[in-house]
Amino acid sequence: MNFKVIMGAVLLLCLWISVGAQSSSKHSFVIENNLFLKDGVPFRIIGGDLHYFRVHPLLWEDRLLRAKALGLNAIQTYVPWNLHEPRPGLLNFNGSADLLSFLKLAQELDFLVILRIGPYICAEWDLGGLPAWLLELKPSVRLRSSDASYLSQVDNWWKELLPKIAPELFSAGGSVIMVQIENEYGSFGIDKLYLQFLQKQVRSHLGNDIIIYTTDGAVEENLSYGSLSDDGVFAAIDFPTGWDPAAAFALQKRFNSPGMSPPFSAEFYTGWLTHWGERLAQTDAKSTAVALDDILRLNASVVLYMVHGGTNFGFWSGANTGAGPSDFQPDITSYDYDAPIGEAGDVTGNKYQEIRKVLSKYVGRELPDPPPLPQRTAYGEVTMTKMGSLFDVLDVIGNPPGGVKLEWPVPMEHLRQASGFILYRACLPSSVRPGSKISVVEVYDRAQVFVVSASKNRMFLGTLERWSSNSIMLPTAAAVADFRLDILVENMGRVNYGRYMGENKGISEAVFLDDDPILGWTIHTIGLESVSELGPASFTTTGIANSNLEITKIKPTIELLSDSDPLSGPFFYEGTLNVTQPSDTFMSFNGWNKGVAFVNGFNLGRFWPSAGPQCTLYVPSPLLRRGENKLIILELEDSRPVQTVEFKDRVDFTCGSY
Ligand SMILES: *[C@@H]1O[C@H](CO)[C@@H](O)[C@H](O)[C@H]1NC(C)=O
Ligand SMILES: *[C@@H]1O[C@H](CO)[C@@H](O)[C@H](O)[C@H]1NC(C)=O
Ligand SMILES: *[C@@H]1O[C@H](CO)[C@@H](O)[C@H](O)[C@H]1NC(C)=O
Ligand SMILES: *[C@@H]1O[C@H](CO)[C@@H](O)[C@H](O)[C@H]1NC(C)=O
Repeated sequence: MNFKVIMGAVLLLCLWISVGAQSSSKHSFVIENNLFLKDGVPFRIIGGDLHYFRVHPLLWEDRLLRAKALGLNAIQTYVPWNLHEPRPGLLNFNGSADLLSFLKLAQELDFLVILRIGPYICAEWDLGGLPAWLLELKPSVRLRSSDASYLSQVDNWWKELLPKIAPELFSAGGSVIMVQIENEYGSFGIDKLYLQFLQKQVRSHLGNDIIIYTTDGAVEENLSYGSLSDDGVFAAIDFPTGWDPAAAFALQKRFNSPGMSPPFSAEFYTGWLTHWGERLAQTDAKSTAVALDDILRLNASVVLYMVHGGTNFGFWSGANTGAGPSDFQPDITSYDYDAPIGEAGDVTGNKYQEIRKVLSKYVGRELPDPPPLPQRTAYGEVTMTKMGSLFDVLDVIGNPPGGVKLEWPVPMEHLRQASGFILYRACLPSSVRPGSKISVVEVYDRAQVFVVSASKNRMFLGTLERWSSNSIMLPTAAAVADFRLDILVENMGRVNYGRYMGENKGISEAVFLDDDPILGWTIHTIGLESVSELGPASFTTTGIANSNLEITKIKPTIELLSDSDPLSGPFFYEGTLNVTQPSDTFMSFNGWNKGVAFVNGFNLGRFWPSAGPQCTLYVPSPLLRRGENKLIILELEDSRPVQTVEFKDRVDFTCGSY
């Protein structure tokens, strides 16, 4: 035999052995002796939260490579039920909801994956990830509990979700090493039957070769309500940066079975979230890195929350509840989180560098370089053309076209609407007098109130906000008989944690004229799912000409009717961004008031520069194409002189006064 043949035989033998080894020995990821063991070898998780649904799918790889270059070996992500099941039984695993492609990509890039399937996830995400249609169920359903009608919906959803995940488990050759049920349940409830139900469902679909875990604040009480170690569920913890990690892990141990408590900080906060009307949350890079080092020095596993926050595109941002009068705190569109990898992929900040320095000490090999900064372009100003009033296209964008006629107002969930706007229209009763008071019993969340005279002149009376006022006066010096009332209500994001979780949006009870309820409503739901159909042509029947006409007609009566600006929106604007080379860019709303913006039909999210701090919306490059790109803006208020938007090459978080 010559040398080549011998080498060939050896090679074949090796191949055969390694193939044989792969198919006979299953992969395993287990807990033993207070350690994670990956294929039998002690393993430390150094992970980061990166939510596939907050990043454009064509940018997943870019962001994952940045996480890799930071030194991470695992990606943790929530699974938002409401994105995947927008209507009961209607499933979406496409585009930004393509969880399986995300898992496969993570695996190709050599990440392990930790899935937090909820069904409740919090996450500063609309209704904490629960579908708004749960609120339609009758009798009313108790979210996050062992209420049978809630459990049966969870069961239906997980019957779809879990079989998709099963082949992606690490033990089956995939990347998923752990599955979290619920989220910080101990901060909310005491219903162990609920947690046990979730545990059983996961076991029955995914088998015994997967670690199921819970995450709770590192506080005795929270862990006692939220953990489930007697049922074989691993208790992980989270705690504010700066807490003594050794004490926290000692407490964690008390809520796990002997030998089953690898120290694991499932949410190490790299930054924090921001609400509208607040200064941008920012945390110090150095002290964050030091706190991370303190955890890693204890041989603990850790997940950075967030490694990359991304964006709350569309109407997905949630809201929190706080103390005091402004106890409704909607989240801004950006989910930058002051994380090491910025919303648009930046890794140039100190935080990335400081954290990378710490992690490289523990990773024990040289870290790859992150990809170069994505190209970003200041495309400059685009002049927008006013297409017309939202009221003129109700039949194009409203659902159903003629509205729904009901005696009493109902919230949007009763009309199967999850998000966006809802218009309530009624004739004022004959008892109306100049100076009569219109009051809305509970407005969720912000309403613009208009009256329309018999001659179709539209007058803006003012804005009602759940955090400030719920009543408004009709003009004292005008003939108000025969007026019609239009109340346009905006859902600003559902509460994802705290007191008001599960409330309905729109008007949930009644509208009064002085002491009498107003009856006989026509209600239009305005979800804005398909604004791309909207063009100037949609407005031609009652259209642009008419809107302008109305405005000139109203003008002489302004002083009589109201101090407010009668030209007030809501109006749609259209413009074209002409691009030779698509790249990331930031759409600036300086000079605008409040609304929603779309690029090529994609909902970029809410803007509200007067509240701030966010004044630009991130436009990721895959949303743009070479040539003309269609921009549509819904401006709710429209009392500004400018009609241009500027595309900048940097993010701007300096709007508002707070
Ligand atoms: C998902 O996308 C594929 C291909 O783009 C399409 O054929 C399919 O109908 C989509 N499914 C849903 C539920 O949208
Ligand atoms: C523990 O739960 C309470 C609510 O019972 C919550 O306010 C608190 O933030 C939780 N603590 C931690 C550290 O998560
Ligand atoms: C961390 O692990 C190393 C190596 O196994 C060990 O020598 C050291 O004592 C451990 N440190 C702590 C705080 O457990
Ligand atoms: C966009 O650019 C192309 C090529 O320069 C030009 O033909 C077209 O008119 C431009 N469109 C707009 C809206 O400016």
